[in-house]
Amino acid sequence: MFRPFSDILSFKALVHPRTSMNGINKERKKIMQKIHWGDLTPEQFLKDYWQKKPLLIKGAFKDFTDPIDANELAGLAMESEIESRIIACNNNEWQVEHGPFKSFDKFGEENWTLLVQAVNNWSRDTQSLLAAVDFLPQWRIDDVMVSFSTPNGGVGAHLDQYDVFIVQGEGKRRWQVGTPDSSLQLLLPHPDLKQVSTFAPVIDEVTEAGDLLYIPPNHPHKGVSIENSMNFSIGFQAPNNQELWSAFADKLIDENLGEARFPDKARSLTHRPEQLEQTDIEKLKVFMQAQLDDDNLFIPFIGKYLTQNHHALEILMPVSPIYSEQLSDILAEAENTLVPVSGIKSLIIPIHQGDESIERSYLYINGESFLIDKETIALATCLTKQQTLTTEKVKSLIINLKNEKLLTNVLNMGLWYVE
Ligand code: SIN
Ligand code: CO
Repeated sequence: MFRPFSDILSFKALVHPRTSMNGINKERKKIMQKIHWGDLTPEQFLKDYWQKKPLLIKGAFKDFTDPIDANELAGLAMESEIESRIIACNNNEWQVEHGPFKSFDKFGEENWTLLVQAVNNWSRDTQSLLAAVDFLPQWRIDDVMVSFSTPNGGVGAHLDQYDVFIVQGEGKRRWQVGTPDSSLQLLLPHPDLKQVSTFAPVIDEVTEAGDLLYIPPNHPHKGVSIENSMNFSIGFQAPNNQELWSAFADKLIDENLGEARFPDKARSLTHRPEQLEQTDIEKLKVFMQAQLDDDNLFIPFIGKYLTQNHHALEILMPVSPIYSEQLSDILAEAENTLVPVSGIKSLIIPIHQGDESIERSYLYINGESFLIDKETIALATCLTKQQTLTTEKVKSLIINLKNEKLLTNVLNMGLWYVE
């Protein structure tokens, strides 16, 4: 049962700094991992709804259990490295306060929402919600933001630039979603709060535990809590050109690359020296494009860029380095498990040969790259899944020295740890 707000304060000791991960994850909750699509399939969803139309799936998760409760969320909002906000509206006056919070007393029992970013970086049970969206590539996922709202609490009508799946946990909330509308007015009822004017909803429903709401980018939406309620928002990332070009330029500058000057050997006589001719424009574009087309540059750039986390992570470095011998000792203890840092981003980039066969791949974890060949691909694939590995499973994967090296590197960098 959901604990009333007054209990949040008394439970805060449960989530003391650094024990927060253990406190939250000690007893793993059974998280419902697959969406019950009803009449739809993931393929139809992608064709008809993804980035096009909002959708509410009632009962998408049967017997949904909140991966984190309000007390634990309140505890995370007390931590300085975790981004949190409280948005309240009393007598039509909007108020925004940023965490870390020492106390929640002054907000009372209604009209406010606590929002905590990247809760999946601190709660493995929350991270496991992401398995529900495995019909999309994991590099598109940003984080799971969790909100706790008291009756009448909400952040007001607003737009998000990214796709979001909102899972309703405990409690009930009225969600309204509209369609993009250029006549909507942008409002700033508080310097830290962007809202939009009233919109015509195409979805207007009360959500209950296990319901799933999909909202495409730039669709106005508004959720108002009917009772104390929890929402789990899976947010997606889509870099814009400014961010990509700027990060790519940073790489060239940091690594002293791209210093070669524009080549001009085949120049012919010009009769219009004051003009920049189309042929030269094309040559300049080709000159710049060559950098993007060079996979030796672009792949390390994009692999690192897409696996860097936008929020703090709990990286756990081993006290002393792990070599082959220590790894054997770890694997000899059947009760040990190998665990990824919660929320860590990883991906594999296969390198295709001319004949389309894959000779090698790159594994990226949290911006770090590892060269993978056929013998290490099975282990690398396991390392990209946010799943705890038993020693038995690890032993079946460590079939040669290369695998052992990959695993010890990953452990020594604190990207995975032993529990
Ligand atoms: C919330 O959970 O209150 C906000 C989620 C959203 O509108 O994106
Ligand atoms: Co939103």
